Amino acid sequence: MQRGLAKCLGGLSLLSLPLAGIVAPVGSPLTDGAHKVGLADSRVGYESLSYVTDSKVVIQALGERQPLFELSLNPPLGLPTVTGELDPAEIDLGRQLFFDRRLSKNETLSCAMCHIPEQGFTQNELATPVGHLGKGVRRNVPSLYNVAFAEALFLDGRERSLEAQIWSPLLAENEMANESREAVLAKLASNDFYRERFAEIFEEGLAESTLGRALAAYQRALLSGDSPFDRWHFGREELPSKKGSGAEGYPALAARGFTVFQDKGCAACHRINDSSALFTDGQEDYVYIWTLGRALRPPSVQLAPGIFVVPTVDAETETFTDDGRYEVTGREADKWRYRTPSLRNVALTGPYMHDGSIATLEAVVAFYAEGGGGDPAQDPRTRSVQLTQSDQEALVAFLMTLTSSHVDVLVSDARSVTIGERTAGGQ
Ligand code: HEC
Ligand code: HEC
Repeated sequence: MQRGLAKCLGGLSLLSLPLAGIVAPVGSPLTDGAHKVGLADSRVGYESLSYVTDSKVVIQALGERQPLFELSLNPPLGLPTVTGELDPAEIDLGRQLFFDRRLSKNETLSCAMCHIPEQGFTQNELATPVGHLGKGVRRNVPSLYNVAFAEALFLDGRERSLEAQIWSPLLAENEMANESREAVLAKLASNDFYRERFAEIFEEGLAESTLGRALAAYQRALLSGDSPFDRWHFGREELPSKKGSGAEGYPALAARGFTVFQDKGCAACHRINDSSALFTDGQEDYVYIWTLGRALRPPSVQLAPGIFVVPTVDAETETFTDDGRYEVTGREADKWRYRTPSLRNVALTGPYMHDGSIATLEAVVAFYAEGGGGDPAQDPRTRSVQLTQSDQEALVAFLMTLTSSHVDVLVSDARSVTIGERTAGGQ
């Protein structure tokens, strides 16, 4: 049965969403902090079969093409070295595809409408996204910044290759809902622009593998480092002098937050290496943290010392079943475990956690300070974190300094693509 829009919104109420704010004011310059303003299709009435998109407003916000390939040759401060070579023509083609709504069955939904450039290549308005014909998707959208370095893709790590990953959204009936891989390729092949571009760039022309390569190339180029933290920690920038008011440099409160981050064990999972930091432990560990979204479900019950069971959720609660890593391995111990997310650009990528159940960074930190959701079966490293009020403020100040200086460049580059029917041949 198709879920109504309101049911897909997790903890957020539809009425509280700034839907009107999603439409960018005509001609708003990107430099005007526009990455905070949603430019996505508002999707009002999306569940109706006669839905017509209003996302052409995006065209009003044209950005400028940026040399992503050149930027990738000289990776930003704080990031590991990019392995493998990126190809500029593949990046350009992938960018075009990423923004093309025709990639979905009813031609309304592009990759970029869930991974919105102005919203950290994720979605700030919804805890969990809405796909084809208003159908709900159960997990929060991950940011695509620095996805080039992700060892395991999806929150349960079920995929390893960016090239192969694309078929999951393209075919999922609640995302882009295409009938088959052949149907996607046939649609693209019927478009002169795409058929010719693929033939020019790839020996094998348009094929499953080359569609994957193009989309992967663009996403790999979304490198974003060189945050204030990187410039201070890896670039040896000074703290502001005590006397100086408004002095440039790394804020002292954030520096204290970094100490708290290390001392209180956050960095055990959100890791920092000697010359780079992704703030994740890659695919090594999947972690169970009882999130607030689970409040909708019964918590685990202790049957005997050390033995916990979670009662099965009955269909009437209408919450999504999400067993996390267990769905990949089938191992009981992997239930409700998720990949540790990177914290780069975390100030831009709310709401947080796999179910989007926590709206702000302050609330995430307070959540850790309370020992997480309080399930005794939760990862012990997240249960015993003692954080004073001032530790929490310092941690938030630190997390706010992880925003890359490349954000505006990548947003502007993203919006250099014209949308929809105008993509064909760039006319
Ligand atoms: C309806 C919204 C939606 C659309 C459309 C969509 N995605 Fe996603 N994307 C998601 C969600 C939600 C996840 C996390 C799913 C999970 O973990 O099970 C995700 C995960 C990903 C990931 C994994 C990122 C990571 O850090 O593990 C990549 C890469 C990605 N999407 C790329 C794409 C591409 C390319 C397209 C277009 C072909 C696309 N997405 C279309 C919602 C969407
Ligand atoms: C045991 C490993 C572990 C430790 C320790 C840990 N985290 Fe996390 N963190 C995770 C995992 C796993 C998630 C995602 C949970 C989910 O999706 O349900 C997460 C999520 C987050 C998020 C939300 C990110 C997002 O994009 O949704 C923030 C912010 C965060 N952690 C900060 C911290 C801070 C600050 C500390 C220290 C007080 C800390 N973490 C300690 C594993 C850990």
